[in-house]
Amino acid sequence: MDARDLIYMDNAATSWPKPQRVYDFMMEFYRNNGVNPGRSGFDAAISAGDLVEQTRARLNRFFHGDLPERTVFCHNATDGLNLVIHGLVSPGDHVISTCLDHNSVLRPLNVLARDGIIDVTWLEPDASGFIRPEDVRGALRENTSLVAVNHGSNVIGTVQDVAAIGGLLRDEPPLFLIDASQTAGVVPIDIRAMNVDLLVATGHKALMGPTGTGVICVREHVEIRPTRAGGTGVRSAYPYHLEEYPWRLEYGTGNLIGIAGLWAGQEWIEEQGGPAAIHAREMELAGALLGGIRDLDRVTTYCCDGLDDHLATFSLNVEGIEAMNVGIMLDVDHEIATRTGLQCAPKCHECIGTFGLHGTVRFSLGPFNTPQHIERAVEAVREIAR
Ligand SMILES: Cc1ncc(COP(=O)(O)O)c(C=O)c1O
Repeated sequence: MDARDLIYMDNAATSWPKPQRVYDFMMEFYRNNGVNPGRSGFDAAISAGDLVEQTRARLNRFFHGDLPERTVFCHNATDGLNLVIHGLVSPGDHVISTCLDHNSVLRPLNVLARDGIIDVTWLEPDASGFIRPEDVRGALRENTSLVAVNHGSNVIGTVQDVAAIGGLLRDEPPLFLIDASQTAGVVPIDIRAMNVDLLVATGHKALMGPTGTGVICVREHVEIRPTRAGGTGVRSAYPYHLEEYPWRLEYGTGNLIGIAGLWAGQEWIEEQGGPAAIHAREMELAGALLGGIRDLDRVTTYCCDGLDDHLATFSLNVEGIEAMNVGIMLDVDHEIATRTGLQCAPKCHECIGTFGLHGTVRFSLGPFNTPQHIERAVEAVREIAR
């Protein structure tokens, strides 16, 4: 089968296809300037360094960060979240996070808790899949150093009111970290207005970059301990890792071709009218898909009765058929790609009652889905549920 015949509804895993301009720019830039940025003084190295700094500044503006140098590149959200979590917490700290978080938050925190270093409170969502901001306030302790919240669920698609949570933490000591992996690029984010201290996002989903990219925005007042050390291309005689940003959190040669992809992704997002406009188009399709399947006999959908504060991502099960098998039928019989199972978010499945069912079938739409794709998906689910 030609991959282009595939109806791709797995954009929460990674967006695909990418906009043509992303492929073109990555190829062209890397072919002409694919040398080590920031290390040498010849023209191609200067161009490569300029692209890195311009992309950094652009992403900093995109998220309304304080200073461009405090927007740093990492390899993916997992890398960024580990750097931030391990660089912030200290023995004896208490951390608040949510049951909607991804394993890239759950696991680093679980390891620290298992080893007796920190204590973690996991907040459960309400029946509609939202974290109540007042629950965050209720869980605060004197030693709470960090509140980590998944902005958009990669299982049920609910988008948390991080501005409300940030607002109530404004005069409280803990730092507020959001995992914007599912929202960056489709939900407008202003970390200053939302009173977010740290944002981590992966680059290969709605930011439209390639895999192997991610970004961390660190507000001016936040200090993160470097937990790695190595080459930065700057002040090579200094025996330790540099304290200054961005090098404080960037180690070794960066992903230049990936950063070129992030630059082109920013161009494309702007050309489309920005995150809100992209989101509105995706939600129209999500509404049509849900409308076509939610009332089918034997089909259960989760936390998507209303689509306000929602991504174009949702989960379902078909009574009597394992999620994994529904996914195989969608793929083999209908050429529709979805993701089944626990989607790296086991606590979320415990909350929605699908852990024991081995998870759900997740549909996640992207900007290149069409009304025809939706018709085919509705028909496919109808046939499987019949
Ligand atoms: C909410 C959330 N956080 C973090 C991640 C991890 O992203 P990456 O695989 O790029 O590290 C994902 C990926 O699915 C995600 O959905």
